[in-house]
Amino acid sequence: MASTRSSASSASVPPTIEPARGKLGILLPGLGAVSTTLIAGVEAVRRGLAEPVGSLTQMGTIRLGRRTDRRSPLIREFLPLAGLKDLVFGGWDIYEADCYEAARTAEVIEPQLLEKVRPYLRKIHPLPAVFDQNYVRRISGPNVKRGKNKRDLAEQVREDIRKFRKSSGASRVVVLWCGSTEVFLRPGAVHQSLASFEKGLQKSDPAISPSMIYAYAALSEGVPFGNGAPNLTCDIPALLELSRRNQAPICGKDFKTGQTLMKTILAPGIKARMLGLSGWFSTNILGNRDGEVLDDPGSFKTKEESKLSVLEHILQPELYPKLYKDFYHKVRINYYPPRGDNKEGWDNIDIFGWLGYPMQIKIDFLCRDSILAAPIALDLVLLLDLARRSSALRGLGIQEWLSFYFKSPMTPPGLYPEHDLFIQLKKLKNTMRYIKGEELITHLGLDYYD
Ligand SMILES: NC(=O)c1ccc[n+]([C@@H]2O[C@H](COP(=O)([O-])OP(=O)(O)OC[C@H]3O[C@@H](n4cnc5c(N)ncnc54)[C@H](O)[C@@H]3O)[C@@H](O)[C@H]2O)c1
Repeated sequence: MASTRSSASSASVPPTIEPARGKLGILLPGLGAVSTTLIAGVEAVRRGLAEPVGSLTQMGTIRLGRRTDRRSPLIREFLPLAGLKDLVFGGWDIYEADCYEAARTAEVIEPQLLEKVRPYLRKIHPLPAVFDQNYVRRISGPNVKRGKNKRDLAEQVREDIRKFRKSSGASRVVVLWCGSTEVFLRPGAVHQSLASFEKGLQKSDPAISPSMIYAYAALSEGVPFGNGAPNLTCDIPALLELSRRNQAPICGKDFKTGQTLMKTILAPGIKARMLGLSGWFSTNILGNRDGEVLDDPGSFKTKEESKLSVLEHILQPELYPKLYKDFYHKVRINYYPPRGDNKEGWDNIDIFGWLGYPMQIKIDFLCRDSILAAPIALDLVLLLDLARRSSALRGLGIQEWLSFYFKSPMTPPGLYPEHDLFIQLKKLKNTMRYIKGEELITHLGLDYYD
């Protein structure tokens, strides 16, 4: 069989998807490099000034049925996604700069193109942020909310969401965290249930970070929440409980862009050919504000954890001890201001082949961080909104099918994450087929030879 009917659970009640009527509001905590590149980019595409390169939802197709059927529609025509013309943006930041000024500071999009979308960007002003320097140490700004405790701050964010819904005329809203990387936090007692989390909000428990407050507020409003940074944020039982209860999907963590994207492309290939790995050294230089924040050891630790787990999961040393048992993995991020957002990532990979003979692979990726992140952010908001409208997906909580976009994909307790980009892509596309009642594709293909 080249394809199979989807599983038993789908047999009883066919999945349905509500249409994408009206505008989709996108609220972004953090109006920095990624957010402004996303917003300016969407406006440029809407005006026909550029193409949405890197966005699977905008450029990608999906094969349906047998290879001989020749059915490969564009994903955005196959799924009832919100159209780019229906997107309205807002956000929060600790700085008062409007979206145009913030984009100028980020220096990702060249001034010539930025000028063409300036009137649109000028209209987007950041709402005051929930912020605390104990969680992001290297920056401070004036545009910050005050409240008597963390519950009060969460209420203020909820009110922001409701007001935005009204003022923008959006019929649906999605929140995507594009704020700075917070210091490393481990799940603790206060994160274990919604009841303990809500008590913690009241007591301003230090284990509740600002990003968790945004996530709690969004989910309380029934609004899906995605996490583009490696922070713990919604990856805790309390917020999973809230997500499921309110049928507001969640996903994360940490956009899979430059170096980790390369790692999850290359490592599956090395493993597919049963080549061994003795070491993988990765280092970066970058000079944007993200780089400055990551220069703090607390925030770097959060990022490091996110970047390190990838190889272990892909290579499965427990299954292949002779090839991967003791490989040495090191990740470094160096803040180097002259480079701005144009990061350079070097990888030195020591592999071994037949009879143990050593070989080396070198990668020098001169990438543009936010140019790689913006299309991911776009796909995520569109697909989170779709998940909210899908009968098969909205009650799941974690949207594991969106692992494709993340360095540290969220999974339910006890389930290890899939990091291999190609497995992730199959999972993503099969989920798309499944929610539309199409046959899943297994690539077995024996029936072509009957
Ligand atoms: N650029 C990439 O390719 C990439 C890839 C993976 C992950 N990320 C993550 O995405 C996030 C955004 O990256 P960026 O390059 O846009 O960074 P950035 O520093 O340009 O922007 C982050 C913005 O968030 C704001 N901020 C911080 N804490 C906030 C809070 N509590 N509430 C509201 N605003 C807050 C900051 O003032 C800043 O303007 C970072 O956590 C980064 O690690 C980025």
